[in-house]
Amino acid sequence: MSNTELNQRYQDTYKALVSICEGEIDEIALMSTIVCELHNSIPGFDWTGFYRVTSFEQLKVGPYQGGHGCLSIPFSRGVCGRAASTKKTQLVRDVNTLPYHIACSSSTQSEIVVPVFDKQGEVRAVLDVDSNQLANFSSTDQKWLEKIVMLLTPCYDRVFQP
Ligand code: SME
Repeated sequence: MSNTELNQRYQDTYKALVSICEGEIDEIALMSTIVCELHNSIPGFDWTGFYRVTSFEQLKVGPYQGGHGCLSIPFSRGVCGRAASTKKTQLVRDVNTLPYHIACSSSTQSEIVVPVFDKQGEVRAVLDVDSNQLANFSSTDQKWLEKIVMLLTPCYDRVFQP
């Protein structure tokens, strides 16, 4: 797929997400929908999911599509931990070159991990996408995924009222 086609695919997916998610502020409902739309719309996404910050410097798996993902990742480990601790997107062209990469599947070759922020700029989760192709991700993926995870920001303002 050319970069122009990929941009168009992301634009359509983003538009669909904005429409489907309008007014929704539940984190799990939003994460599940984002993961579903991305995984089924963008080619080369072989594992697509969120890890949530659930306690001090600890990530726990959230909604995902693809094979089994590991349940817990501390900030000190993995590409996910690196994205959470540095607050910066990690774009990995070849996971085999990274000693700190956690291999949940031996077929994974490249990966992108995008932090999810609340309005105060604290990391609340990360979006992890793995591909079985080398160098599957580019600055186009980074640009769109960073925009898409901002759909989650409103849910972190929520006051819980059962
Ligand atoms: N590769 C990730 C771990 C999560 S799984 O791939 C689903 C990492 O290195 O943090």
